Amino acid sequence: MKIIGMLTSGGDCQGLNTALRGVAKALYEVWQDDVKIIGFLDGFRGLMENDIRIMQPRDFSGILTVGGTILGTSRQPFKQMLDPLDPLRDDSPTKLKAMVETANAHQLDALVVLGGNGTHKTAHLLSEKGVPVVSLPKTIDNDLWGTDITFGFQSAVNIATDVIDSIHTTATSHGRVFLIELMGNKAGWLTLHAGVAGGADVILIPEIPYDLDIIIEALEKRQRQKKKFSIIAIAEGAISKKEADMSKKERRDARMDWHYPSVAYKVAHDLEQKTGQEIRVTVPGHYQRGGTPCPFDRVLATTLGTAAASLIQKETFGYMVGTRQQKIKAVPLAEVAGRRRDVPEDDLLVQSAKALGVSFGN
Ligand code: F6P
Repeated sequence: MKIIGMLTSGGDCQGLNTALRGVAKALYEVWQDDVKIIGFLDGFRGLMENDIRIMQPRDFSGILTVGGTILGTSRQPFKQMLDPLDPLRDDSPTKLKAMVETANAHQLDALVVLGGNGTHKTAHLLSEKGVPVVSLPKTIDNDLWGTDITFGFQSAVNIATDVIDSIHTTATSHGRVFLIELMGNKAGWLTLHAGVAGGADVILIPEIPYDLDIIIEALEKRQRQKKKFSIIAIAEGAISKKEADMSKKERRDARMDWHYPSVAYKVAHDLEQKTGQEIRVTVPGHYQRGGTPCPFDRVLATTLGTAAASLIQKETFGYMVGTRQQKIKAVPLAEVAGRRRDVPEDDLLVQSAKALGVSFGN
């Protein structure tokens, strides 16, 4: 009997259930009754506290198109669940030990971990401790090192683009400037792709710090062209050039004095003050992470899920299954952990948007 553990960790996204289904169905197909799947509930919390659900083949039916995660999730443990005995340590060995003990107690033949950046740090630590980990890349942010794309991203791009499309019509009617704040605290992939797909006039992402005056120039240029409205797609993690020169702490402290719920409101206020134009803000927030995975993500999550099952059958552990140039690629967890894939300034889409006249505020 093979015993396989599964967990989903970090912020949810579309395609998690699809991927779980892909792994499970492929394992049942080969091992049939000789495989037992244990679901650890709410991510690493379930592994730490041995909170489990014994899965049956029927649990993986009917979930191909279902958003969220049937296993539940929580943020990765080292920041939010500090060891009370050693609160200053971010990588509390006690918690890691608890997780390893649970994995060993179940005599896991493999532990399938679905997650983003934070998750992969923990997955790597577990792997170093001998837990047979295989991981899958999920996040709407698309910022995981070692893969060209993560599942969840394309579904979020579709939703964010729909939002921009809808805002376009009302912005046109009223001749207003709209800021649409999209998710992406550290990486701007979602804002970049949705911004280009939705025809945004200005795209502001964390990787390219903005200068308010340059944004104003872009808006004025549109006014001179007799364009009554403008659309600014702004990532929630966008920062100004001034902020880019500050340390992380200085930036955090400076933002403590803000009276704005988020960056879009701050930029909207500053623009209104300086231009006198009527500005509105739309923040779709977690709506971008919800609902059914788009067909692209269903295909991607299924392909990656079955590839993970195949690694498990070959007893190849310590890898994340990603894609590189449209091919499946197993990447060592050591390579993925602690690294982020940001939008490079020479990114093809950035260049293409610039060629159209889109301003990045820099
Ligand atoms: O990492 C995915 C993500 O949706 C980010 O884009 C966003 O900054 C963050 O999660 C939001 O986290 P939470 O769901 O904890 O509010």
